Amino acid sequence: MKNLAVFSSGFGSNLQAIVNSVKKSKVKANIALVISDNVDAYSLVRAKKAGIDFLYADPADFKDRTSYDKFIVRRLKKEKIDYVVLAGFMRIISDYFIRQYKHKIINIHPALLPSFKGTQAISDALDYGVKVTGVTVHFVTSTLDGGPVILQSALDIKDDDTLISLSERIHRLEHKLYPKALDLLVNGKLLVKGRKVFVKR
Ligand code: GAR
Repeated sequence: MKNLAVFSSGFGSNLQAIVNSVKKSKVKANIALVISDNVDAYSLVRAKKAGIDFLYADPADFKDRTSYDKFIVRRLKKEKIDYVVLAGFMRIISDYFIRQYKHKIINIHPALLPSFKGTQAISDALDYGVKVTGVTVHFVTSTLDGGPVILQSALDIKDDDTLISLSERIHRLEHKLYPKALDLLVNGKLLVKGRKVFVKR
């Protein structure tokens, strides 16, 4: 069984969706570790409740991004982590980290990439006035929010949507899409060729 490390800086609803999918054997993997850069992240409470090992690492304790990531990677190797799952982790991952886990780090983004990159994707889409937005799961590369796309799912923006109502629908979609992508990943079903990701039959 593959070992996952889930990274989350905040509320951790995606972490919870993954935990639930693992419990129901919809994703056959072991969540070996939850990592956060935020001491107040509710995801750490979720990890504790689920009986999963967790690590809080404070970026302020490290001289730069690479030293932070070297510390994290050492721990990942020690735990024999196969895949890194970014779920609302609001830090940029260094090239060093990415090289160590090439095509083994995935991220979920609350918009249809390449539209609305960055940390405010839901409000950016709403403010722009697009009629359709959605969710993207992608491999992480050194280009921010620019790695090969694994799965996407779209939803319509309604005239009376607010940030709250749209965020709720986006999150519901994320909680379905991320476990689906993880299931493909841990079963070795994803083939990356350049920018494209193919699902093996
Ligand atoms: C999710 O909507 C995720 O897509 C987003 O942060 C949220 C975390 O929610 N990630 C990004 O915006 C990355 N650029 P959660 O903590 O409840 O899972």
